[in-house]
Amino acid sequence: MNKKTIRDVDLKGKRVLVRVDFNVPLKDGKVADDTRIEAAIPTLKAILEQHPRAVILMSHLGRPKGERKPEFSLRPVVPVLAEKLGVDVAFAEDCVGEVAEQAVAALPEGGVLLLENTRFHPEERKNDPEFARQLAKLGDIYVNDAFGSAHRAHASTEGVAHYLPAVAGLLMEKEIEFLSNAIESPRRPFVAILGGAKISDKIGVIENLLNKADRILIGGGMANTFAAAQGIPMGDSLVEADALETAKSILSKAGDKLVLPVDLVIADTFDENANTKVVPLKEGVPEGWRALDIGAETVELFKKHLAEAMTVVWNGPMGVFEMAPFAKGTFAIAEVLAGRAAEGATVIIGGGDSASAIKQAGLADKVTHVSTGGGASLEMLEGKVLPGLAALDDK
Ligand code: 3PG
Repeated sequence: MNKKTIRDVDLKGKRVLVRVDFNVPLKDGKVADDTRIEAAIPTLKAILEQHPRAVILMSHLGRPKGERKPEFSLRPVVPVLAEKLGVDVAFAEDCVGEVAEQAVAALPEGGVLLLENTRFHPEERKNDPEFARQLAKLGDIYVNDAFGSAHRAHASTEGVAHYLPAVAGLLMEKEIEFLSNAIESPRRPFVAILGGAKISDKIGVIENLLNKADRILIGGGMANTFAAAQGIPMGDSLVEADALETAKSILSKAGDKLVLPVDLVIADTFDENANTKVVPLKEGVPEGWRALDIGAETVELFKKHLAEAMTVVWNGPMGVFEMAPFAKGTFAIAEVLAGRAAEGATVIIGGGDSASAIKQAGLADKVTHVSTGGGASLEMLEGKVLPGLAALDDK
């Protein structure tokens, strides 16, 4: 990575303004999944070890649409963060203005402060320069560790970098290195596994990976649209009618690089208690039935393609893994990937649903890297430049 990191700067005595991605799920006013908080801890500890004057943290949470909505408050993060960091964490009711400035000034030497949700201000998403300047006033140096938000050109992720020395945190560095090495200089064979509901979300990824990967295995709802594009009847399965032409053109370009399922688990309703059966893909899905998972033969086929893989990138589940009867394909692939990692392959799991799936399978610590970014890792796989990274100071 050609960007400066916290290792390249002296933070002693400085007010360090850190953008983290604490966009975590909340349930009953409590943090329901602390993965993203945990992921920021190495950076925050490394900053604290440099004896800064203060560490000021900012993040968004959810999409409050520029309004102060209590259900999107970052306050529930405070106790979780304090426990993980092992220090007191103060909270400011606003991320700019007098409230924020006074909270920073009141911090003890080396104190940590979390600012309220940046998206309570509409200027955040507009990347308003004046708002970015107000954020910048709170620090002497800016650290961006919010990989999960690096695809957003917002005031706290991009704008603020223009007003302060700006460097990457350790999570940002780790994410960028894993994902860009995997795509740009993979150990081969390099196999990508793509799933999830829609082709339209992943056209850019497929097109970019067709030039880089040795094989692309397709599962999940996406496979339905590819099958329909080949004239296979898909019954009541999710098929994107307006992506059929794109699917056809990808198929004709891809040759044997793109591997589709050979069998599917189908169900007569979208329900855990549905009647299910397995059908070969080429026979299609009868009316009244829908495809909800890949079948066992597809798992075997994908296993063969993965057998020698030395780099694997996985983005998107193979079926509706949230429902037990349709989780087998996704979990079987997770097992195969853990096995590859144990044999020395680099296995990278994109954020979002694939990250949830590998966690649910209990295998998150058996793969090389699980990304904390959903949209951000997808944009990396598309080969796009992330604005939050681009704005940081070059080495
Ligand atoms: C995410 O959860 O992917 C990031 O925090 C970005 O959130 P956003 O999609 O609301 O910008």
